[in-house]
Amino acid sequence: MDQGGLEELAEIAPANPSVIAALAEPPANPLRDPRDRRIPRVAGPCVLVMFGVTGDLARKKLMPAVYDLANRGLLPPGFSLVGYARRDWEDEDFAQLTYEAVKEHARTPFRETVWQQLSEGVRFVQGDFDDDAAFDRLAQCVRQLDVERGTGGNYAFYLSIPPKFFPTVVQQLKRSGLSDPAAASGIAGTGRRPWRRVVIEKPFGHDLASARELNSTLDGVFPQNSVFRIDHYLGKETVQNILALRFANEMYEPIWNRSYVDHVQISMAEDIGIGGRAGYYDGIGAARDVVQNHLLQLLALTAMEEPVAFDADSLRTEKEKILSAVRLPADLALGTARGQYAAGWQGGLAVPGYLEEDGIPADSRTETYAALKLGVDTRRWAGVPFYLRAGKRLPRRMTEIAMMFQRAPHLPFAATDTKELGQNALVIRIQPDEGITVRFGSKVPGTAMEVRDVNMDFAYGESFTESSPEAYERLLLDVLIGDPPLFPRQQEVELGWRILDPVEDFWASHTKPEQYPAGTGGPAGADEMMARDGRTWRRL
Ligand code: BG6
Repeated sequence: MDQGGLEELAEIAPANPSVIAALAEPPANPLRDPRDRRIPRVAGPCVLVMFGVTGDLARKKLMPAVYDLANRGLLPPGFSLVGYARRDWEDEDFAQLTYEAVKEHARTPFRETVWQQLSEGVRFVQGDFDDDAAFDRLAQCVRQLDVERGTGGNYAFYLSIPPKFFPTVVQQLKRSGLSDPAAASGIAGTGRRPWRRVVIEKPFGHDLASARELNSTLDGVFPQNSVFRIDHYLGKETVQNILALRFANEMYEPIWNRSYVDHVQISMAEDIGIGGRAGYYDGIGAARDVVQNHLLQLLALTAMEEPVAFDADSLRTEKEKILSAVRLPADLALGTARGQYAAGWQGGLAVPGYLEEDGIPADSRTETYAALKLGVDTRRWAGVPFYLRAGKRLPRRMTEIAMMFQRAPHLPFAATDTKELGQNALVIRIQPDEGITVRFGSKVPGTAMEVRDVNMDFAYGESFTESSPEAYERLLLDVLIGDPPLFPRQQEVELGWRILDPVEDFWASHTKPEQYPAGTGGPAGADEMMARDGRTWRRL
């Protein structure tokens, strides 16, 4: 920071000269990977205000991500974290909750000095979402941080709360003046204008109409480029690598089309049930929870054309073109399937069915498994089905994209020699065993010309020494930097609902989800859907 900036800061932060010293010279961080130099840092001190701090997401993902960023030296020294919740807590109680969350879930090792520095900026404000006085206290709290820690009126508001509260909180941010950067002093003389950003967790609406309504609520308060819609799949390394695989290489693009690809399978399997999330999940179901966002994003990245640049606009434009070309099956009864887990066995333990979970009505029709067959009406993909499936209480946790190639047009071998030969495949292993598999036929050693499937494997763990950052680490950093490519814009969200709404309407009026025992591969209807096309799902 230049001298002028420091003097200005001294004026607005007279109480704490150490802030000025800290800003002038960021502390050396022994943990920082030299590669991190290529990672942009948050330009100046700022405040992250988190709503919903007692929820699972905040404790398991967001707070650890904040710590991991601090530990990697990517947060500015004046960075402050404000929690807002109903609990009757002091700052210390929230700091304790954060400390425990960090200790239990952080990715990088715990270091007392990093924690100490971070915890100096931790504050808590108690209140309900419709409590005017509490939001006024919140406004006071962040302005105080501007003075004490030089945060310069830069605030990000993270709404990790049930979607029904989004409009109330957004309106409160407006009423209390918190959303308005013009009201802030900023750090004069530094050339920096204060910013305000809002982060909205998914699901963004529960259908097209509600997504539009939510968007218009936001529109009246924050400019579109200050709204960050989270789809945490886009923060995953392996998901970003789809673009590197396709567009940094020459080998794959020539065969990435209808001339070579037979079909594509995108699977997101989870072994867990709904846990304590009945309130959120019931009435939402697998399709709204993860197909409308995560799986359609994977489809868009797999199918899209090369963007002219890797900036937000170019990327989003290409994804939107694909999402608008998605075609639903003519007969939704034949081209979709849904299921609900029944009691069964998972990892050697008896587990309850969905209807027996705490807080789930005995007659709930919410699906915990969804499968769809989609077409993409473009020259590249005409006639190639994209099969999507997502489910809970399946045999294991696994997300992958499998490009299944056509069979060779002619096999100059005896039929018996190739009976073990399947379809060539390129499988992008999103998680947990991150990597890429290429499956092809190979001659079995010996005198006969026997051909059998083999795998060639790229595993992150073997090729790279550093572990992948958590998705939320990357996304939080991008929010604080103000970098939008990994956040879907409204148009993408709406296109997702356009695809899903007719399916949800059809399911609501026609069928009940089919039961499948926990720990098995999903409902029989999903296998039948594939069998009608002469195909099978990849094994889970
Ligand atoms: C969330 C869903 O978006 O993704 C959850 O709401 C799901 O239901 C979770 O469990 C899975 O995330 P990940 O990163 O473990 O695949």
